[in-house]
Amino acid sequence: MLARAAIAHCREIGDEVFALTRQELNIADSNAVADWFGSERPDAVLNCAAYTDVDGAESNPELARLANEVGPENLARSSKSIGARFVTVSTDYVFDGENGGFYTESDSPNPRGVYAITKYDGEVAASRANPDSVIVRSGWIYGHGGTNFLSVMHRLLGEGKRIKAIADAYGTPTFANDLAKRLRELAQTSVSGIFHVTNQGEGTSYLGFAEKLCEVGGYDKGLLEPVSNDDLKRPAPRPVSSKLGSVRMIATGLGPLSDWESALAAFLSEEKKKQ
Ligand SMILES: NC(=O)c1ccc[n+]([C@@H]2O[C@H](COP(=O)([O-])OP(=O)(O)OC[C@H]3O[C@@H](n4cnc5c(N)ncnc54)[C@H](OP(=O)(O)O)[C@@H]3O)[C@@H](O)[C@H]2O)c1
Repeated sequence: MLARAAIAHCREIGDEVFALTRQELNIADSNAVADWFGSERPDAVLNCAAYTDVDGAESNPELARLANEVGPENLARSSKSIGARFVTVSTDYVFDGENGGFYTESDSPNPRGVYAITKYDGEVAASRANPDSVIVRSGWIYGHGGTNFLSVMHRLLGEGKRIKAIADAYGTPTFANDLAKRLRELAQTSVSGIFHVTNQGEGTSYLGFAEKLCEVGGYDKGLLEPVSNDDLKRPAPRPVSSKLGSVRMIATGLGPLSDWESALAAFLSEEKKKQ
């Protein structure tokens, strides 16, 4: 999902883009990565690849580790060897969700669950392999072609389906198109280390996101069934509140992204044009 948005944005602004699927380049294969970098010599690398099935990771920890830890490490090392900028994407799930407010880059991670632990290990491994790496933590990402709950909710509501929306889990929604632009902008700076990137605002719950969708898209709020995080009994633990804020972005000279409600409206209007 995020890669699609990044590819479209970079091509639109005139970049030559190599867009690689897992079949074309398995980022966990260090030889394949080194060979590819040696022959194509990109100026910058935006790593949007990951094992993103949060519940599936609990029963496939090795697959998750390969994609989320070994992959970023390989890409960071090979980027360093050819002097390419390296930007990799991490997650709000590196936090345990217990502080009740916004997490900034200076807060200490405490990942829980295989997905979160492997993503955090990937941050550490990438920074170690290439200290110039830019690690972008984001959360609650939705976008065109996405298959996650936030990305498909409007379609389900449009079909008149009832949906269960969690009322007691909070995050900062992020439109993939906005995040993709920021990844590209960060690649052009000389900053390094961790940056939190989300759309602006106070964040919301899944239910709040769904209600806003209904308001903006004209869907029936009566289709929403509020549920509690605990009701769903999913295999992986998730942070109750993983809102991200940034204290470091200001130093980059890059302004804040648009607020999440306007971003959601932009997403919906683009989706409706595609129908
Ligand atoms: N979605 C969210 O809400 C969210 C929140 C916070 C952070 N993130 C992070 O944002 C990034 C982008 O997420 P997304 O939602 O766009 O993910 P996505 O739609 O699930 O795409 C992930 C892609 O990575 C590929 N991949 C997996 N293992 C690979 C490997 N070993 N080598 C090469 N490619 C591999 C997958 O290919 P296959 O489909 O062929 O396996 C898939 O195309 C990820 O780093 C994710 O952890 C996402």
